Amino acid sequence: MDHDKPLLVLGIETTCDETAASVVERGPDGAGRILSNIVRSQTEEHARFGGVVPEIAARAHVDVLDHLVEAAMKEADIDYAQLSGVAAAAGPGLIGGVIVGLTTAKAIAMVHNTPLIAVNHLEAHALTPRLTCALAFPYCLFLASGGHTQIVAVAGVGNYVRLGTTVDDAMGEAFDKVAKMLALPYPGGPQVERTAAGGDPTRFAFPRPMLGRADANFSLSGLKTAVRNEISRLSPLEQKDISDLCASFQAAVLESTADRLSVGLKLFEDRFGPPRALVAAGGVAANQAIRGALQAVAAKAQTTLIIPPPVLCTDNGAMIAWAGAERLALGMIDTMDAAPRARWLLDAKASVPAGFANSRAGF
Ligand code: KG4
Ligand code: ZN
Repeated sequence: MDHDKPLLVLGIETTCDETAASVVERGPDGAGRILSNIVRSQTEEHARFGGVVPEIAARAHVDVLDHLVEAAMKEADIDYAQLSGVAAAAGPGLIGGVIVGLTTAKAIAMVHNTPLIAVNHLEAHALTPRLTCALAFPYCLFLASGGHTQIVAVAGVGNYVRLGTTVDDAMGEAFDKVAKMLALPYPGGPQVERTAAGGDPTRFAFPRPMLGRADANFSLSGLKTAVRNEISRLSPLEQKDISDLCASFQAAVLESTADRLSVGLKLFEDRFGPPRALVAAGGVAANQAIRGALQAVAAKAQTTLIIPPPVLCTDNGAMIAWAGAERLALGMIDTMDAAPRARWLLDAKASVPAGFANSRAGF
């Protein structure tokens, strides 16, 4: 669908522990502009359980979503009749939350007679750099969050090839679990990074998972177990032990990530030629040490590193609205029977790697 007027799309995100709504504009030339982007994190509701509790998440989405949608529309200063479409993340994620967001989007689409776009949450992460800096295809995405760890070739809208994935824990999940073992507060990633800053990264020689393998997959559960064993050996822990454990764990993640990504970039080049950029997204991309490692990997592969601003790296509504706008511009809209999906692989043809064990890894 060619369009000569800007598209205005409302986007809704409810797949995990952020409730978010946003309005984004996509110009006929493909340029993006965020008119509003409101995120409400549920961290406080889940903190005392040390992780996301699905029932609490779904209920909290119900409590605030209508209000957030209203606020996003108001801030964008448009009314529903002006919308070109409404997009919701239809998965993958916690099914209760996904149902809340998708049902709300369907109601808006029906009442205001506007197209519905059921967006894959991973696709939304993948397309974000086209919103922020009009990046051309093809490019290589490294997505690392609490639920996903993937290297993906982004060849076009709806055209994704998964080059590597975790065979067990997601990277953010590994950070969170290590934090929990060390009694650091939830969410653990930023805490581990902060604590690692004062520690000795060479004190513990933790395994570098998958190092040197020809595929571009990740594995993090063996490393997590090695940290757990070291903790039991040392207990009771001194503050210095905790910083050294965090620093040594992070060093192992960095080295493994750098190795897995250089293989991923080689696989990319074999199939698609040189990537326009290496793009990092997901909560783990907020980690400064990991950013440094990615910079080195990108330089070695003679490509540019692009990391969207932190608010667009972590879960948000603008990325859903933008993916909706990209699909809408190509006439890719959905019907009212679009189903919410707990699991939804980005690359339908992707095979599940050997050793695939963790339910979150398939996100
Ligand atoms: O993308 P995100 O906000 O939500 C999803 O999981 O979808 O990512 C959150 C994850 C958590 O596991 C969190 O611990 C991790 O990203 N994370 C970090 C850092 N900041 C967030 N991991 C390592 N270092 C950080 N600075
Ligand atoms: Zn996400």
